[in-house]
Amino acid sequence: MCGIVGYIGKEKNIHFLVDTLKYLEYRGYDSCGVAVAKNGGVFLQKSKGKIENLKARLKEEKFSLGIAHTRWATHGVPNHLNSHPHFDCCKEIFVVHNGIIENYATLKDRLIRKGHKFISQTDTEVIPHLLEEFNKKEDIFEALIHTVEELEGSFAIVLFRKNTHKLLFAKKDSPLILGILEEGFLLTSDIPAILPFTKELINIEDKSLGVLEDNRCRIFDFNGKNRKLKKERVELHQVAISKKDYSHFMLKEIFEQPKVMERLISFYVKDEEINFKDLNLPLTKLKEISKIFIFACGTAYHAGFVGKYLLEKYVGVDVEIDVSSEARYRKIRFSSKDLVLAISQSGETADTLAAVREAKRKGAKVIAICNVLGSTLTKESEGLISTLAGPEIGVASTKAYTAQVFSLLLFSLYLARVKNIMNANSFANFLKELKNVPLYQKEILERANEIEKIANKFSRFGCFLFLGRGINYPSALEGALKLKEISYIPAEGYPAGEMKHGPIALIDEYRAVVCIAVKDELYSKMISNVQEIKARKGKVLGVVNDLNEDEARLMDEIITVPNFRITDVSPLVVAVPLQLFAYFVAKNLGCEIDQPRNLAKSVTVE
Ligand code: G6P
Repeated sequence: MCGIVGYIGKEKNIHFLVDTLKYLEYRGYDSCGVAVAKNGGVFLQKSKGKIENLKARLKEEKFSLGIAHTRWATHGVPNHLNSHPHFDCCKEIFVVHNGIIENYATLKDRLIRKGHKFISQTDTEVIPHLLEEFNKKEDIFEALIHTVEELEGSFAIVLFRKNTHKLLFAKKDSPLILGILEEGFLLTSDIPAILPFTKELINIEDKSLGVLEDNRCRIFDFNGKNRKLKKERVELHQVAISKKDYSHFMLKEIFEQPKVMERLISFYVKDEEINFKDLNLPLTKLKEISKIFIFACGTAYHAGFVGKYLLEKYVGVDVEIDVSSEARYRKIRFSSKDLVLAISQSGETADTLAAVREAKRKGAKVIAICNVLGSTLTKESEGLISTLAGPEIGVASTKAYTAQVFSLLLFSLYLARVKNIMNANSFANFLKELKNVPLYQKEILERANEIEKIANKFSRFGCFLFLGRGINYPSALEGALKLKEISYIPAEGYPAGEMKHGPIALIDEYRAVVCIAVKDELYSKMISNVQEIKARKGKVLGVVNDLNEDEARLMDEIITVPNFRITDVSPLVVAVPLQLFAYFVAKNLGCEIDQPRNLAKSVTVE
């Protein structure tokens, strides 16, 4: 995974490299490093942990050629030796890499037999040693062509050789963008990291190599044949991102949710009709859809799971949902009446991209439900539903999740109308309820203090079960994921009816069970499940909305959510107290909330 940066051009302060790297910290933050050419030698600095640690170690240093890297460990623990940049035996060739070299073990064996000395456990380290090997007979660019021939897997590589004032790169299946600055060239893993410096850029085509000199840029295919430079102007605005008065981005993003819902309504609902302009599918095609496949990872998968319930209920189509890493290896057959919905906040998740590519190869039509315009997913899908949540910085996804669920709800209603399944009255009724969602969410946000008190009481539990039924079964999965992501407390989401087939063995007075028990057609069954937990002395936190006194007595604590006119909007509302609960538990335990250990905002490796 990881984020990479490279610069060649007029002299700058080394902090420029590290500040650019900061934009890529969402890709990993286990360790980081920087290498710059300096007086015929190379200045190298690495640091474990966040980019701030590296920045603190750097003095003001001028440079005109350099590379930097922020890491999410795949091969080898996050330590100094495994941090990038990596180098060859003679410490002449310096490399940063994003991706995975799948055949590194074979290459490493071969290179060790040739006398190369390795100091890290990473897959990346084979790259500088291969370059060194080929560079014995060829110049560094020729050596790069031959090195790339040897590599299997995915890579965006940026490198330079001591005493050669050139920045070289290679790309296959990992993103790499080239910014054209007035004073030089800047390579990074994504567009937002370039936008503060220039709007003119080249999205490096897959299977490309390149050489950058002060005023010259050349790009080639893997055979060394010249590629045309396809410059683009990107007009996306760089949004000023700050925590404002919130203690964490996660909290700020939880509180932004009503605004995001309002934005989605005003963007997609016009004259009491829902309209999607970028689906790129003719109405005849939409009417024909008989089966939908949903592919997503992590929180986006949970949003997709809510979507499955909605699409089946309102559109009457069959829906299959899979985590992308499984979908891509299943032998799925797509018919011309099938549609794939690929859901992703970042649009860069490697597994989701791979599942989409596989589906497209088999002839499926793909609509992306995505938060980042211009991301790889939006470019590779036929159609787009933009989730309009704005930049999400907290690694644990909150507003992007409810924006995905809201978009799926709108899409379900839209398809139901297109297919003539929902009558005008029910549709108008539903739209009215959708407009209440921001109000429902605000009502809960105003009671954040109450939720904090409850979270403080529950933070002593070492194990949580989250239960829900029907459309709130995915809410239970998401509630558990939020808690474990940021507080590191083991938490499992389960469909409440399945509890008796295993998880009930866990229940005793030391287990906390969060029960989502809003009034719907499965409510009485949910209450029976709560009875079963209480009979075994489990501690129950109910997320409820209309319970009688007897039912209230069953729960140890309750968080009340509003009474819904249509309960199928409930996942959008129930999510809010569950996010706040996870946030306050983690805060109470002193955890690092915005950048939890081992996680990354965007997972760009399989
Ligand atoms: C990572 C993030 C999760 C996210 C998942 C899918 O694991 O930490 O928060 O849900 O990737 O990311 P995507 O960008 O595809 O929604």
